[in-house]
Amino acid sequence: MGTGERKPGGSQDFAALLAGVQQGCTPTTRRPTFSFAMQLIDSHAHIDFPQFAEDREAMLDRAKAAGVQTILAIGTGPGPEKLDAAIPFAEQHDWIFATIGIHPHEAKLATTRHLDQLAQLAKHPKVIAWGEIGLDYFYDHSPHEVQDRVFRDQLALAHQAKLPVIIHCRDAWPGTLKVLDESWRPTGLGGILHCFSSTLEDAQRGLEMGFLISFAGNSTYPKASNIRDVAKALPLEKILIETDAPFLAPQGYRGKRNEPAYVGEVAKAIASVRNLAPEDIATATAANFRRFFKLEQGLL
Ligand code: NI
Repeated sequence: MGTGERKPGGSQDFAALLAGVQQGCTPTTRRPTFSFAMQLIDSHAHIDFPQFAEDREAMLDRAKAAGVQTILAIGTGPGPEKLDAAIPFAEQHDWIFATIGIHPHEAKLATTRHLDQLAQLAKHPKVIAWGEIGLDYFYDHSPHEVQDRVFRDQLALAHQAKLPVIIHCRDAWPGTLKVLDESWRPTGLGGILHCFSSTLEDAQRGLEMGFLISFAGNSTYPKASNIRDVAKALPLEKILIETDAPFLAPQGYRGKRNEPAYVGEVAKAIASVRNLAPEDIATATAANFRRFFKLEQGLL
């Protein structure tokens, strides 16, 4: 509570990082080089999760060293008891932005007090999206009607806050697209269909409603040709890449903890089916992210 009123650390952080770039290293890392081989944006990572408790700063340094210029830190956290989970990272780092929201898994825990708190947190200048929200009928951690209500309530609040939404959907595409068609399309605010694994037809319905389609580490798995086929068929200017860290580590790291430094593996998987260089996918998806969120093209 109260974090919503704090301004991000801003110019000092930027100056320090810029100095680091000019010296060939970041001030917080011992790595001797600072690679810009790929300019990447991880559009979805849970960097607040306890899996990073031991090495969170080193994990962020590795992301920087791998060319990750921006992370969108997803703020659903451990559940409604911590609604500002991602905001401290966005306050401490110029290159990290935050979301807020209640995940469909925890919909049954959501109260009107939580929704009121989210409406306040949405005013934070570095909160740029509301999510991840949606429907999950695979795990079914919350009853369907509760998931539906909390999803719609959050869409209404995101509309009031004029924030795009990040959609989580598992085994619930007809219902999710129906809700979005009824309650979100008219707002024109769009958003991101995160960790996309459905059909090209569903992806195209998303595009029609103003969504970008984000691909995660599961797109790198040998058996996931259906996901890569969708990534191949969509317009290049409509796709994003993400890690969903600490989950869904890409093929080379499968079974291990995922982290933003690995997002380039997703770029490689998509590049391989589009006959492009990984750098092309990295650059295009980074530009797509910046354009959608109206972020300045910066050095970082
Ligand atoms: Ni996620």
